Amino acid sequence: MARILRTTYEQVLCITDKTARMDLKLKGQAVLITGAGSGIGQAIALAFAAEGAAVAVNDLTHEQCRETLDLLRPTGVPMLAAPFDVTRLNDVRASMGEVQAQLGRLDVLINNAAVMANNTSFVESRPEDCEREIAVGLFGAMHCARVVLPGMMDRAHGRIVNIVSDAARVGQEREVAYSSAKGGLISFTKSLAREVGRHGITVNAVSPAATDTPLRRQMLQRLEAKLGAEAVAAREEKVRRIYPVRRIGEPSDVADLVTFLASTRARHITGQICSVNGGFAMPG
Ligand SMILES: NC(=O)c1ccc[n+]([C@@H]2O[C@H](COP(=O)([O-])OP(=O)(O)OC[C@H]3O[C@@H](n4cnc5c(N)ncnc54)[C@H](O)[C@@H]3O)[C@@H](O)[C@H]2O)c1
Repeated sequence: MARILRTTYEQVLCITDKTARMDLKLKGQAVLITGAGSGIGQAIALAFAAEGAAVAVNDLTHEQCRETLDLLRPTGVPMLAAPFDVTRLNDVRASMGEVQAQLGRLDVLINNAAVMANNTSFVESRPEDCEREIAVGLFGAMHCARVVLPGMMDRAHGRIVNIVSDAARVGQEREVAYSSAKGGLISFTKSLAREVGRHGITVNAVSPAATDTPLRRQMLQRLEAKLGAEAVAAREEKVRRIYPVRRIGEPSDVADLVTFLASTRARHITGQICSVNGGFAMPG
């Protein structure tokens, strides 16, 4: 079974080790990360805080934002909870309006929230689960972009990074609707990048493969309930061998690329889908 991941303050300190980091000039930038209460979103929030950015932490409830806020507090950056369900456009508008009022603006949007339903074949899947996967993964990102873009256009500067998945880039059985949501998000990234580039806004996607987070651990638990612990451990070993670097990713692996793409150093990169996957897939 994957080990339980718990971000510690030591990990935050490691992220904040300035001697080891390129100055991305993100200090003072205002960033909102959806689904930042755990896993990759939490690591992204910590990475932006380490760069001195002001961070708005979104998740479904205030309670789900709390752990990330507790981890951010020692960094001393401005931060706030922005609890809302990304699928509800009116709530997105209201909450992101408050965030922009409090932080003055939003320079960076990271669309990270996603759900993965039961690990079942498409024909066995429940339509309502498929709809939720697509609503959160695709429409949620579109809602947040819709709300944040007018301000970015007015200021002629903005960065949007969408978290997609290699499951969409190469296909993934038993994750058909989830992959479809991510496939839609990849197309959204490219087409939106073409529309808004002239306004000084870049739109890119970061595509993790297997990364040790609660989302992945839940998937493994479901498999374990079906197949047993031994079969899952053997499967995990097989998965590791598929990766040229022979390891499963950590959330901070993804966060490093996200902060770079959000920086002015990445001003000439837009409409790109960048995998952080240990070499799992190498799409052309
Ligand atoms: N973990 C992996 O192996 C992996 C691989 C490829 C891509 N990804 C992608 O990385 C991103 C983060 O995944 P993770 O593994 O950290 O997952 P996670 O489940 O740990 O985190 C996702 C967060 O999104 C929140 N969320 C769910 N629905 C929401 C909604 N409607 N509104 C607001 N927040 C909502 C959840 O509460 C949760 O805190 C996702 O986009 C996922 O698809 C993960």
